[in-house]
Order: sequence, then structure tokens, then C-alpha cells
Amino acid sequence: MCNEKNDVEEKLAKSLTAESTNLLPFLPYLLQDLWELGSNPSDIIKLMQKHFTDLGKRKILDLACGKGAVAIRIAETLKAKVKGVDIIPEFIEFAKIKVIELGLNAYSQFIVGDINEVVLEEKDYDCVILGAVGDVLGTPKETLMKMKKTIKPYGYMIIDDVYLDCEDTIQINNKKHEYLTYNQWHGLFEETGISVVDWLINHADHEQNDSNTQAIIVRAMELTKLYPQHKELFEGYIESQKSECEDLENNLIGVTWLLKIK
Ligand SMILES: C[S@@+](CC[C@H](N)C(=O)[O-])C[C@H]1O[C@@H](n2cnc3c(N)ncnc32)[C@H](O)[C@@H]1O
Repeated sequence: MCNEKNDVEEKLAKSLTAESTNLLPFLPYLLQDLWELGSNPSDIIKLMQKHFTDLGKRKILDLACGKGAVAIRIAETLKAKVKGVDIIPEFIEFAKIKVIELGLNAYSQFIVGDINEVVLEEKDYDCVILGAVGDVLGTPKETLMKMKKTIKPYGYMIIDDVYLDCEDTIQINNKKHEYLTYNQWHGLFEETGISVVDWLINHADHEQNDSNTQAIIVRAMELTKLYPQHKELFEGYIESQKSECEDLENNLIGVTWLLKIK
């Protein structure tokens, strides 16, 4: 496998809390009961309603849109035009079915693609969203620079991510990811010529996290019966899910930034 493909696959696995790329073929099955895969659609919609004018005329790009939970809610609630891109074909298929069910064809388009390529081609959006995607586009600085290129001069960027609750990283389970503190995020915005228009803190919802994990456990048990040779792989995924939830509940603060180019 060439290095570039390897890197995309490793980051894809990481974006969905999988420790190993061997889990990739099983992720659509494991996550089949969940629609929302990361960011909170209502927070993003709240920020748009508060700050955007002429919502019906706005063009929004949702990078790594998962199953379209955010983009479809935007199309449904705000009647803005959305384009969602994700690399997992089953997720895009799911989104397309939802669009038909909800009669939102006129407002939404979903395509399978690698966002590393998409950010080089897509331009002139009123807003670009990156929700719970981690380091798929590179370091936080590289990510911001790439996102900037997809929007109009006065366009917005929405990033759903986390910051470290305190400088001390000792408590963090996921030592492989380099989390920024609140001040480091602000330093980065300053350095890249971006201003923070608004932000919302997302408090971890223990009950919701628990119910998501339970749904994944049931699917992992089904897969273990079919593929007993991968038992450890599935068990490892559940452990990663639980440890991510612990980090989100104890050590990290979820945040949705609404940003603009200065
Ligand atoms: C945690 S999910 C978040 C999904 C969605 N943004 C949300 O908030 O519900 C991360 C998503 O990133 C997608 N992803 C990872 N690497 C990608 C890439 N190179 N190109 C497109 N999508 C990618 C995954 O398939 C997955 O759907």
C-alpha cells in the first residue's frame, strides 16, 4: 500500500476511534444504529441562525459529513443548500436515503470522496463545516489553512472539536492525539488570521454516550459470532469507545467554533 493511502486510512480509522485499519471494513456495520457520529447538529444550527443572514441563499460544505446528520438537519431546518462529502460509501448511501425520505433533494447533495482532495477543488462556499474529524486534514494549522480556501472572502468556518480542560495531559486516555488548550486554539486563530465570531461549549452527555456504546457492543457481539478470529479487534474497539467517552466526560471540553477570516 502506498504511503499516502496508508496515511488516509490510518487517519480515517482514528477519526472513528478505531485503533487499527483492520477494523475499517467493519465500521459501517458497527455504527449502523447511530446517525449522529460526532458533532451536535443543534449547536451548529443555533450558531447559523444567530449569525447568518439570508439562510435560504447560503451554500454550505460539510467535510467528512459522516451519515449526513448535520448537513441534513441544516437543509431541513434552514433550507440552505448543503453538500456533504465522506470517504465511507455506506455512510453516503445512508445520507442519500434520508434525503429522499425527508424530501430534501433540492437542498442537499452527498458525494463519496477524500476531503484532502475535495478541499483543493471546492470553492466559494458561504460556510464550511468540519465536525469531529480530528487530524484528517493535517495539523490544526494546516486544517484551518485548507478550510479557508473553500469559502468566499466573507465566508464562515465551523469547527467542532475539543480543548484540554487543563494543561496537564496526564489524565488523558488517548495519548496519541495532541489536544490543544483553549489558549492554544486562540493563538492559532490569531496566527492564521482568523477571528472567533462565537462558540458553544458541548457538555458531554453521559446517557447518550452510554446508549451509543451499548448499541456498538451489540453489533460487535454479532460480528464476533460471524468472525471469531477478529474477537480481539472488536473488543479493542469497544475499549477505545469507552476510553474516548471517559476523556470527553472528564478531561476534554467539546467546543463548536464559528470562525471568520479577518
Ligand atoms: C467522527 S465522524 C464525524 C462525522 C460528522 N462530521 C459528524 O459530526 O457527525 C468522522 C468522519 O470522518 C470521515 N473521514 C475520515 N477521513 C476522511 C477523509 N479522508 N475524507 C472524507 N471523510 C473522511 C469518516 O468516514 C467519518 O464519517
